[in-house]
Amino acid sequence: MRKPIIAPSILSADFARLGEEVEAVIAAGADWVHFDVMDNHYVPNLTIGPMVCKALRNHGIEAPIDVHLMVKPVDRIIPDFAEAGASIITFHPEASEHIDRSLQLIRDSGCQAGLVFNPATPIHYLEHVMDKLDVILLMSVNPGFGGQSFIPQTLNKLKQVRSLIDNSGYDIRLEVDGGVKVDNIGEIAAAGADAFVAGSAIFNAEDYQATIESMRQNITK
Ligand code: DX5
Ligand code: ZN
Repeated sequence: MRKPIIAPSILSADFARLGEEVEAVIAAGADWVHFDVMDNHYVPNLTIGPMVCKALRNHGIEAPIDVHLMVKPVDRIIPDFAEAGASIITFHPEASEHIDRSLQLIRDSGCQAGLVFNPATPIHYLEHVMDKLDVILLMSVNPGFGGQSFIPQTLNKLKQVRSLIDNSGYDIRLEVDGGVKVDNIGEIAAAGADAFVAGSAIFNAEDYQATIESMRQNITK
């Protein structure tokens, strides 16, 4: 297994102090900053866009920013996020009319590209695009809100996608997003994930560093 990635979702951060919050989780050992973009159209919530991504870069945040697009359509906003300093951009295949084109657009913009699968979205979308993926993100909750419970069926889906990745020979991260906690991260890792988004579990904790360390310990147990 490659070095596991811990990616705190800033959806659960204190938005009034976003720069400090991101600095704090990076100082606490986080690897990526998970940046949830919601449009009140593809998902029933509205969050942040490229200006906030740019503001984090201007604030001095150097860690990879993992932009999770929950928007429809997706293509128009991709160059804006690349320009704003995004490192990884993922989108939901059913939100794009032309999946191959959107993936290519992300890479052409200089970012790593990924597809995101909702709990009930079939993984057959992967069949013809494995060579264009840097990340596959499996949602373990329905997208739109932080603080929901992990859907256990995700474990089987993770195992399926893990073997697809291993058999493909491509270097693709398997990321999981939703309801990831200190006490379930071990079984999620055992199912094949190697990048872990956690919002409420980290930002609602008193001690970010202790929480991230406990997560890492349980991943490798
Ligand atoms: C949900 C978002 C997640 C969310 C995770 O639509 O994509 O990133 O913030 O939050 P927790 O870890 O609280 O489930
Ligand atoms: Zn997310």
